Amino acid sequence: MARDVALFIGSLRAGSFNRKTAMAMKEIAAGALELREVGFGDLPLYDEDLEADPPAPWRRFREAVRPAEAVLFVTPEYNRSVPGGLKNAIDVGSRPYGQSVWSGKPGAVATVSPGQIGGFGANHALRQSMVFLDVPMLQQPEAYIGGAARLFDDAGRLTNDQTRASLETFMDAFAAWIERNAG
Ligand code: FNR
Repeated sequence: MARDVALFIGSLRAGSFNRKTAMAMKEIAAGALELREVGFGDLPLYDEDLEADPPAPWRRFREAVRPAEAVLFVTPEYNRSVPGGLKNAIDVGSRPYGQSVWSGKPGAVATVSPGQIGGFGANHALRQSMVFLDVPMLQQPEAYIGGAARLFDDAGRLTNDQTRASLETFMDAFAAWIERNAG
């Protein structure tokens, strides 16, 4: 049976290159991995005072991530780091202390940008948080996808063969990583 993988797309915009890439990854991995998107655009900003009675979107988010067998982040880089909305989701999932939804789940990150360095800064900023959150992250291959504006057709389908081949290798490696690290 396909592994249940919670998918987080770091961009909220409709025409997102990251979303298009994530949809290509979902199709490529089908059979081995079921990529299940978990949205986070509605999460109130993290505030410890709210833990006394957590907002409904926080509860929904935590309940959606907790049963996943692995986590996959596909995200743009904002100002050389992780977009604020995604960072907020990571923070919401990490608390209350001792009840993090992330602990021990195998993970992977792909960063996608129209720029040439493919979101390298965001990729590693995310890895920094994941070290602290005890998420074993796929090391190789890395996925820094640059030049994203040239990879898709008007319908949003991935048309670049080289990128598709790279994503196939990446998803195969992630599936093997999940088998090695699954709880
Ligand atoms: C960006 N963008 C950007 N790109 C990049 O390669 N490095 C960066 O540091 C930034 N910083 C940045 C900050 C903010 C606030 C925005 C809105 C954008 C450009 C970004 O890569 C581009 O808008 C992508 O198209 C965003 O990804 P989606 O929405 O297409 O998935």
